[in-house]
Amino acid sequence: MPVIGVLACLAWVSGAARPQEGTGAPPRSNHEPALARAASVLSAGARTDGNADGARARASIVGGAGASIAGFPFQVALYDTRAGSPAAGFFCGGVIVDATHVLTAAHCVVGNSTGAGEISVLAGSSSLDPPDPGSVRDPVSSSAFDAHYNPQSSDDDIALLTLARPLWTGTAPALNGSSPIAPLPPDPERASTYGNPNLSPAVVATASGWGDVNPAPGHAPSYPTSLRAVQMPLVSESVCEEQYAVIEQPITSSMICAGGGKSHVDTCYGDSGGPLVVDQDSPARPPEDYVLVGLVDFGNGCAQSGYAGVYTRIASPAVMSFLAFGDGYSATPIGTQAKHKKKRKRHRRSHHVRSASSGTLRG
Ligand code: ARG
Repeated sequence: MPVIGVLACLAWVSGAARPQEGTGAPPRSNHEPALARAASVLSAGARTDGNADGARARASIVGGAGASIAGFPFQVALYDTRAGSPAAGFFCGGVIVDATHVLTAAHCVVGNSTGAGEISVLAGSSSLDPPDPGSVRDPVSSSAFDAHYNPQSSDDDIALLTLARPLWTGTAPALNGSSPIAPLPPDPERASTYGNPNLSPAVVATASGWGDVNPAPGHAPSYPTSLRAVQMPLVSESVCEEQYAVIEQPITSSMICAGGGKSHVDTCYGDSGGPLVVDQDSPARPPEDYVLVGLVDFGNGCAQSGYAGVYTRIASPAVMSFLAFGDGYSATPIGTQAKHKKKRKRHRRSHHVRSASSGTLRG
């Protein structure tokens, strides 16, 4: 049976402690069996714990360092407003794609009955506690996740959150490090060009988040209050497939792998839904030449030797058609959306076959 992060995370005890430095875990509430069937739009979205990999937890943004939100102005923290503060309610990351939309992992919002009305995003803040002056707290009004999200295999683990208020009005803030809030619209074509995992030498990618930073096996997780980021190489499809074959976890075409292995750098619990980016230019000009390549998804523990971290792959046709699905959201220039929609059926069909062969399709 596949042993994977998201499954394990659902097994974590519900109602666990707040993510305080050195103790506890992101808050979570009861998990209900998979909710969705179609490309469900949840007016009352749900969240899971945002964690994974349970007892095998070892590490996090291992090898990473403190980062400023200006360098990752598209990064948000998702939190449960009922906890009273962003730090107390923090459970996942997300990526701002336009003024009213945030991408995250489906497993961050699917699986229990917490309503979208209880989720907010914190934008423009490096710190969760206290949030930076000028940061914005914005409630989520609805969430949609991929119809083919499979909570067992983690296939197509992507969701789109709609915010109650625009994060800015008029022209989007520039993604050049001068604004702590700016969008990183997904561009599947550029993601595929610049985020090729099969190149040698490997492309170096960067992930960011407020996830668990405790690298000690068996120790209590430790959640930082300040944003952290880590650089790590993309891992080839064949290597990642081999690594996860050991635990019978399929690595599908909707997944891309990075880090882990000998590099001992990885993302971890709480980083889910956050960005994996690559720099498209040399010399690098982050953040303005960042391309969104993935969303933090799962791993076998964190930074375990022999296992890369696994990310939802922005360049995958299935994920691409989900992005085009977003109502009122244009990840792609107007005009090409219709084309993507037409293609969608075909993608869906082939995707279905793949999912069906790799396990029970749920969700
Ligand atoms: N599923 C985790 C979360 O919900 C992310 C785990 C990432 N694991 C890894 N080894 N990269 O936050």
